[in-house]
Amino acid sequence: MKDKVFITREIPSVATELLKENNIEVDTWTDLAPPTKEEIIQEGQKAQAIISMVSDPLDKVFFESCSHLKVISNFAVGVNNIDLKTASKKNIPIGNTPDVLTDATADLALCLLLALSRNLLPSIKNAKEGDWRRWEPLGFLGTALQKKSLGIIGMGRIGQSFAKKCHFGLGMNIVYHSRNDIPHVNEEYKIQKSSLEETLRSDVVSIHCDLNSSTKHLMNRRTFSLMKKEAYFINTSRGEVVDQKDLFEVLKNNKIKGAGLDVTSPEPLPPTDELFGLENIIITPHIASATKEARDQMATIAAKNVILGLRGQELLHSVTS
Ligand code: DGY
Repeated sequence: MKDKVFITREIPSVATELLKENNIEVDTWTDLAPPTKEEIIQEGQKAQAIISMVSDPLDKVFFESCSHLKVISNFAVGVNNIDLKTASKKNIPIGNTPDVLTDATADLALCLLLALSRNLLPSIKNAKEGDWRRWEPLGFLGTALQKKSLGIIGMGRIGQSFAKKCHFGLGMNIVYHSRNDIPHVNEEYKIQKSSLEETLRSDVVSIHCDLNSSTKHLMNRRTFSLMKKEAYFINTSRGEVVDQKDLFEVLKNNKIKGAGLDVTSPEPLPPTDELFGLENIIITPHIASATKEARDQMATIAAKNVILGLRGQELLHSVTS
């Protein structure tokens, strides 16, 4: 009998083609509404593998109910949606898709920063809505980024890629805070790892760390209060790294200049959320890895992780607790 993989959302067809070529039956959830926790369990019980999304919570109950699975392949680099400890107790390998979305994610962080610093959204609105009446010497004055400092929190692959684009492309000075000192980064920018406090005093603060118990609400009333009034805040990592109530207060009272978020808590963020009522924020719907190139490569890795996992072989990329 063929092995079956349940895919919780439609993903690029390169994945399904590869799986079928390897004699694996593919069952994809095609409803517009994502499967609930219960539906993932029901479908998981009929399969030997799952390709899951960052938004699918695979918790203890899931693993208790689907302990027969041979592999779970997350269609993402982040795996904070998965209870890794229980997965490991059940001996279920967990795959992820690192590297291939690094540039796409750093590019989106750059989009958010440039859009904020050059008042892109309000100026597009002005032109489109007939308010563009004259060339305005004092209109839409933005902030130059050259020679400004970029404070990166979490200097992994994506943080490093963003640093490179901002330093070599825009002439920004890099400051970073990370779990470890990173010698090649220090060498490249002639710097040393900084404290969190020092990093927060940069002209731009961008979050690139994982979500875990030590980074949950890392950005809160206290840490935001260390930022400059003229600073921009960017988050393309996970929404829960930020205490959103505190961010709202900070933006409402103009304690920082603006924020660009690709991730929120919850996701989707309801349109009635108070953050949407602010002028000094840009929110995108978790699209950092959304380029055709990145998503095709993520799909290929996710499929290969399933194929290898079903054969009992080591995954291309895996994570452990
Ligand atoms: C990831 O891969 O972790 C992203 O957040 C989803 O693209």
